[in-house]
Amino acid sequence: MITHQFFEKYNGKDTYLYLLSDKIDVIVCTLGATILSVRVPDRFGNKTDVVLGMTNPDDIVNKGDYMGAVIGRCANRIADGRFTLNDVIYQLAQNNGASHLHGGENGFDKKVFNASVDGNSLILETTSLDGDEGYPGTLKMGVKYTVHGSTLAIEYFGESDKDTVFNPTNHLYFNLNGEEDGNILDNVLQINADSYLEVDQNLIPTVKSPVANTPFDFTQAKPIGQNIDDNDMQLRLAGGYDHNFCLEDNLAATVYSVKSGICMDVFTDCCGMQLYSGNFLKGQEGKSVYNKRSGFCLETQFYPNAINRDDCLKPILKAGDKYHSSTQYVFTLL
Ligand code: BGC
Repeated sequence: MITHQFFEKYNGKDTYLYLLSDKIDVIVCTLGATILSVRVPDRFGNKTDVVLGMTNPDDIVNKGDYMGAVIGRCANRIADGRFTLNDVIYQLAQNNGASHLHGGENGFDKKVFNASVDGNSLILETTSLDGDEGYPGTLKMGVKYTVHGSTLAIEYFGESDKDTVFNPTNHLYFNLNGEEDGNILDNVLQINADSYLEVDQNLIPTVKSPVANTPFDFTQAKPIGQNIDDNDMQLRLAGGYDHNFCLEDNLAATVYSVKSGICMDVFTDCCGMQLYSGNFLKGQEGKSVYNKRSGFCLETQFYPNAINRDDCLKPILKAGDKYHSSTQYVFTLL
């Protein structure tokens, strides 16, 4: 079932909250197509909110470190904010040192989306004009949230009138103990990836390396905190995990919390997933106060900076082609 209500004005525009309810309850704001809350049955017969979130429009946009927002046009970093497409060099906004991060200064996370409802799906759409943040082509994009039983499915759509770069994701921060718990280190994580991308000091991926015998080996389930403080150059560069895993399977990851009994499977048709352990969180006040490592992200996407790499799929959307990708979060009890 889907209901909605007026939320607040942002930049003179009305924003709305949508509640998608089945066995889980998901609240989505039309600002940034942001997921503010995901309440899931826990082992005590209650519902636990497993995602971090802000409570008002200004904080969603400015303080929330992209919590729950849709990211784009291109998720993660593009080195020097630059790429070449059809022999033209495009310079994008450099909003993270020299890099372009999460779509730039005014990415999808800051747009007010148009909403429509189709059965148990909420469809949020926006148009990014030719030249927006430096990207070519007028891009019509949409995200569809569907709650069915204990599954939250996210689908992305896009179509552009010129060849462009398109690599959307969602930036949910999870803590399966409950969002107010403050610490994700005991969340137990398994990732179906035998390799990951090392990064440089700007967190731009470099070589693809095997995870075996490194702290990045999540092929067998282990607590996120088990190796996070190991004396490892890659962990030091990022202050924890902030790396892309090269996925082998549609079942990308499984996470569970012994405290709440909540288990989450992540299915996706994307080839990459960024594990980010909330290293830059620093006391933001939202539903709770969020400090370093109080949430983790599993951002399904193309490899970061893939537009400038030749060893992986590039996130190029050709003029007139239709983009579609999907990710599902399936909740169960241990
Ligand atoms: C990136 C981090 C970045 C964070 C911002 C993540 O997707 O990998 O490096 O700081 O987003 O919230």
